[in-house]
Amino acid sequence: MGKFFVNGGVALYGSVRVSGSKNASLPVIFASLAMRGVSEITGLSDIGDTRVALEIIKGFGAKVEKRGELTLIDTRELEYIIPDEQLVSRLRASTYLLSATLSRFGRAELQSFGGCNFSKRPIDMHLYALSEFGALLGERTLTLSVNRPAIIEFDKCSVGATVNALIMAATRKGESTIKRVAKEPHIMTLVEYLRSAGAEIRLEGDSFTVKGRELSGGRVTIPGDMIEAGTFLTLSLVTRGSIKVYGVNPSELSAFMKPLSDSGVEFTVTPSYICASREPRAPIDIVTAPYPEFPTDLQPIAAPLLATYCGGSIEDRVWESRFGYLAEMAKHGVGFRQRGNRAEIFPSQIVPAESEATDLRGGMANLMLALFANGESVISSAELVLRGYERLTEKLTALGAEIEYCM
Ligand code: EPZ
Repeated sequence: MGKFFVNGGVALYGSVRVSGSKNASLPVIFASLAMRGVSEITGLSDIGDTRVALEIIKGFGAKVEKRGELTLIDTRELEYIIPDEQLVSRLRASTYLLSATLSRFGRAELQSFGGCNFSKRPIDMHLYALSEFGALLGERTLTLSVNRPAIIEFDKCSVGATVNALIMAATRKGESTIKRVAKEPHIMTLVEYLRSAGAEIRLEGDSFTVKGRELSGGRVTIPGDMIEAGTFLTLSLVTRGSIKVYGVNPSELSAFMKPLSDSGVEFTVTPSYICASREPRAPIDIVTAPYPEFPTDLQPIAAPLLATYCGGSIEDRVWESRFGYLAEMAKHGVGFRQRGNRAEIFPSQIVPAESEATDLRGGMANLMLALFANGESVISSAELVLRGYERLTEKLTALGAEIEYCM
């Protein structure tokens, strides 16, 4: 179990460049299995989750070669295996194996898909979409013996189910329609990758129309991670410093910046970087919802901002319950009241403490409190945070933080 040792109370100053988006990298890595060719992926980040995803696809015979910023994935010669259960159980994105291996081999395993364990994470929408394409559900396996398009009508937005439906549609002969899709920037990166490999995909309103075919290797650049960018902007305010954040498309952060701006924060947005200045002067009220609304993955990150300034509220309309991290934040002095999918966070006296990362973003929130509090804090289960942030201690140290990671 890894630990962060932090000597906090230092305002962080400087510049940081965000790495390739985690949630864009993972669908691309798994979708490569559905293609017969060599894919060229630029800007894949080297984080815990992408390492596990690459290990999983190597199990099928994919050859992965890194050449600086470029990752080559050769999926010309693969053979079906039952993926390593232990690796699969570490990632939620391993659900993308369902469409990728059904398309390529006509078979997929129902395994214990992992990922952050903050809420119930059903896969009924994934299974609905796959069955519309003709997949038959057995006790532990899915099989597919037809190659036909489908019309999928989701009843709400799901990133993962949209990914699986897109991979299926892109590899089926004929025209498929997927209605009520998720439109996060990471979905659009997958679309670009599938298009580069030969699929024709149109987005109209909330629907994708997809003309699929046998796909060759694709080519894509992974955009900067908007959640990492939001994390450093918030950290700049929490530590009372000033951090210029490079490498993200500012329009992806509009909904994140809105409630902060309403409370008095000023954002400088230039073509190359974003910087936050002026402190919040009023409580901040956040409501998360699917893109383009406030991202759920930034709600735990915003919690330290509320706690160290004027308080506020968070309502999560994506996850039924994503507040497990608050009990750990309480160890650092955060006062809160939570009911169902809504929490009030009170202005709090933050103290150094020993706490535990409950999940990736919740752990990052605790680390932010540790960086703010004067004195020594220890965050355990720190490896959960490193699943999603590349070279984190290196980036924080360059900004002036006193932090060490020990296994
Ligand atoms: C993705 O998870 C992200 N993970 C999550 O980021 C993110 O919180 C989430 O999307 C929402 O933006 C990856 O991209 C790897 P969903 P996913 O399917 O795809 C319900 C992070 O911190 N639902 O969009 O698993 C579900 O319960 C991680 O980086 C069903 O009911 O999320 C939830 O309420 C954590 N049935 C809602 O839909 C289903 O079959 C949205 O979930 C699927 C989902």
